[in-house]
Amino acid sequence: MLETRDRNKLSTISSSKLSEITGINSYQIRKDFSYFGEFGKRGIGYPVSELAKKLKKIMKSNKKWDIALAGAGNIGTAFLRYKGFSKRGFTIRLVFDNDILKIGTEIDNIKILPIQEMEEHLKKQKIKIGIIAVPAQSAQEVADKMIAGGVRSILNFAPVSIRHSQGVSIKHIDIAIELEKLVYYLF
Ligand code: NAI
Repeated sequence: MLETRDRNKLSTISSSKLSEITGINSYQIRKDFSYFGEFGKRGIGYPVSELAKKLKKIMKSNKKWDIALAGAGNIGTAFLRYKGFSKRGFTIRLVFDNDILKIGTEIDNIKILPIQEMEEHLKKQKIKIGIIAVPAQSAQEVADKMIAGGVRSILNFAPVSIRHSQGVSIKHIDIAIELEKLVYYLF
């Protein structure tokens, strides 16, 4: 959003405009930004291009990240075909599966590798982020392999809670839960 404004040559943005766009209270926005130093000027707002750069730095989104994906099924294939991740600095570099009919085939020029070799490849390429898109019963085993290979952040789509040691972050995405939340607001 900030980048679009920057491209459109809008030089500043106020905390109340940011609040309108994000739904976050403008006081909270000013307070949060103040933790990271002086961004804006009272009555003028925040310089858009500087704010975008600083936020990218804080969120570490100015870095490029390689990702390993486990499970080249419906969800995994959709991720591999989606072009939007690379624009945000994320590249699915490695894909693993245990289906012998899929191993060795390619999806969008990425070869599917055997899950048994995951740990070795992760270590070699120093990959720190993984996506789990395997059935629930295999998710823990796959997560353990990812962690053993050096992965420290996992986005888990399998409907199961993953046990993990300290120093590993797991984010569980469940679209059904998000839909249930939306249904709640219908009444
Ligand atoms: P799918 O059956 O199409 O794909 C799963 C893939 O994982 C297959 O290619 C299979 O060969 C592979 N696989 C199975 N065991 C493996 C193992 N031990 N190691 C490596 N690969 C293995 O399933 P789909 O539809 O892509 O769903 C994937 C996961 O995402 C499932 O756990 C499903 O329940 C979950 N899901 C989650 C949603 C969410 O909102 N979080 C929405 C839809 C599905």
